[in-house]
Amino acid sequence: MKKFKIGVIGAGAIAQACHIPGYVAARNCELTAIADPEEKCLDMVRKRGWKFSREYRDYKKMLSNEKLDVVSICVPNKFHAEIAIACLGSGADVLLEKPIATSLKDGEAIRAAVKKSGRRLMVGFSHRFNELNIAAKKAIEEGKIGKPYMIRVRFAHTGPWPGWAKTDWFYNPEIAGGGALMDMAVHAFDIAQWLLGSVSAITCRTATLRKDIAVDDNVVAIMEFGDKCMGYVECGWTSPAGFLGIEIMGDNGVIYSDYSQNKTIIVNGASSPSEKMEMKTRILKDGMKKGSWIRQMEYFTGHLEKAGDFSPGIDDGVSTLKVVLSAYESSKKSKRVEIR
Ligand SMILES: NC(=O)c1ccc[n+]([C@@H]2O[C@H](COP(=O)([O-])OP(=O)(O)OC[C@H]3O[C@@H](n4cnc5c(N)ncnc54)[C@H](O)[C@@H]3O)[C@@H](O)[C@H]2O)c1
Repeated sequence: MKKFKIGVIGAGAIAQACHIPGYVAARNCELTAIADPEEKCLDMVRKRGWKFSREYRDYKKMLSNEKLDVVSICVPNKFHAEIAIACLGSGADVLLEKPIATSLKDGEAIRAAVKKSGRRLMVGFSHRFNELNIAAKKAIEEGKIGKPYMIRVRFAHTGPWPGWAKTDWFYNPEIAGGGALMDMAVHAFDIAQWLLGSVSAITCRTATLRKDIAVDDNVVAIMEFGDKCMGYVECGWTSPAGFLGIEIMGDNGVIYSDYSQNKTIIVNGASSPSEKMEMKTRILKDGMKKGSWIRQMEYFTGHLEKAGDFSPGIDDGVSTLKVVLSAYESSKKSKRVEIR
């Protein structure tokens, strides 16, 4: 069996929680090289027992010394574009973390590099691999709630620093490119577009409600999907435990992809202005066999052997980045922004 030579750039939290264990679990991958300027992060990887054949402090040196088949890019947002373009140029397929970039210019430059290099790129939109969401999408496509006209997405936690990230960059606007909107709502917009199609306009308000930081820690955004469907996103970095997930409303029913209860639930029935509600509730999915990051890596490593692009690919990455940047524009100018 062909073994794909794997490189990882950025040895921090998401590399350790998702990418590296995903390659270790895959029978067709070998840990060939890793690059990170921080010794402490390389050391964490060593201490987890993961052995790359070679280690580098400088990713450019890694790309010029190695002939890698695949590179995972797990660095802070600002560096995504430069590194992705270099990796594609070196002849590797790429798994790029979200958001793909912090500006549309950079996002389009990555898209041009994918085209020019003929290599393939997948974006780490991991919520698409969540089994609850897969069950919800299937039910929507089978017409189980009729035609969707509304979606609500709530993704929130207490924030990435301290506690999650291994280096301190998430609250630096220069490096992160934004706050909770850039970090969390990017997932929410992607999942909304995956379920219901393209967002055509956005009205958004970002705020820094609780943390003493220079970027937004909460965001609310109203999405329009043409003129017959809309929805809203609420994301934040200051949230206690509670409802997390997605609610999709159609003409005949509602689906909850409820992350907090670990269930996908469908409710059909009539709701009248009186206190009476006739409801038929059914559990579509009770618990997940595997986490989203595991499934994402299984898909990515499995697809390496197949022809055809990865999904989600660069077009999904650019399209979602457009929604994020339009949302920032909407919040800044206090106006609705159309997205072309
Ligand atoms: N898909 C998801 O659910 C998910 C979850 C968390 C983070 N992420 C994304 O992953 C990326 C990394 O986030 P993280 O939480 O792992 O942060 P982190 O701080 O834990 O890790 C980042 C790593 O990149 C290294 N680094 C910085 N500049 C570098 C360079 N030029 N070359 C090589 N390495 C460099 C740092 O030293 C650090 O080890 C971000 O884009 C973030 O948005 C995605």
